Amino acid sequence: RLNLTGRDFLRLADFTKQELTDLLALAAELKKLQKAGGSYQPLKGKALGMIFEKASTRTRVSFEVGIYQLGGQGMFFSSKDLQIGRGEPISDTAQVLSRYVDGIMIRTFGHEIVEELAKYASIPVINGLTDEFHPCQIMADFQTIIEHKGKLEGLKFAYVGDGNNMAHSLLIGAAKMGMDIAVASPQGYMPDEAIVSMAKEFAKESGSNVLITDNPIEAATQADVIYTDVWASMGQEEEQEKREKAFANYQVNGSLVERANADYIFMHCLPAHRGEEVSAEVIDGANSVIFDEAENRLHAQKAIMAAIMS
Ligand code: CP
Ligand code: NVA
Repeated sequence: RLNLTGRDFLRLADFTKQELTDLLALAAELKKLQKAGGSYQPLKGKALGMIFEKASTRTRVSFEVGIYQLGGQGMFFSSKDLQIGRGEPISDTAQVLSRYVDGIMIRTFGHEIVEELAKYASIPVINGLTDEFHPCQIMADFQTIIEHKGKLEGLKFAYVGDGNNMAHSLLIGAAKMGMDIAVASPQGYMPDEAIVSMAKEFAKESGSNVLITDNPIEAATQADVIYTDVWASMGQEEEQEKREKAFANYQVNGSLVERANADYIFMHCLPAHRGEEVSAEVIDGANSVIFDEAENRLHAQKAIMAAIMS
């Protein structure tokens, strides 16, 4: 059913609703198979190069274990160790790595770096987070929502916090899949306007709603899912103090989640800062599904790798 062989996985916007639906179904199947002790190894003898220009716990470990479970081998490269760190062009790196490995996962800063790598690589490239997007995380998030809510379509998804890479990918993903999404961010930290317009176009097709507001209560009211992320992303460490002030009224805490539906789920891509973007009572409370979400990085990314690399 899935025919994505050779495709890059850079942005959710590049995939149809059907393709994303099929990838999520494959992720669920692979999870079930793994829990039953079975194995599926379509990538025997293949290698995934993993380039990290930023720190990672989940992305690194889930990709490395994932490629191994699919029969292949993962290779971790910190950009400090690669010649990229000494100025070798991305285009040369892409062409050289394409002669050795069968796929590249990269976590970096500007999204244009990933686009450049994909342009020059002759093998599939996977975006493991840029300043603009984090598409693999959204696949795991949607797999988790389906597990807990049985569907995506018709749900209300609320994102409260920084209009960052997570907000962008969630906007595109929700709008594509037909889930209503409300994003609440302070003025000055709203999601990128071009991405919001793109999400609104997708929402028109899927019949869902996109709301951008600076009012967290408006976003959280009757939500089925409440999501937040750090106030200062990787690369913004020196803005921490300024951001703590700007986001002071945007904490996801007990009084905010009271506005949501009683059976709402709380999600966070992690790493989290208790007492900043989310209170401990919420993230460690009964409605939090953060560890299912983290686990699903493994299954969702196995589906992506199996689909594009085999
Ligand atoms: N959520 C996520 O991408 O986590 P890491 O930064 O640990 O990879
Ligand atoms: N917005 C965060 C997500 C981390 C997974 C960052 O870019 O640091």
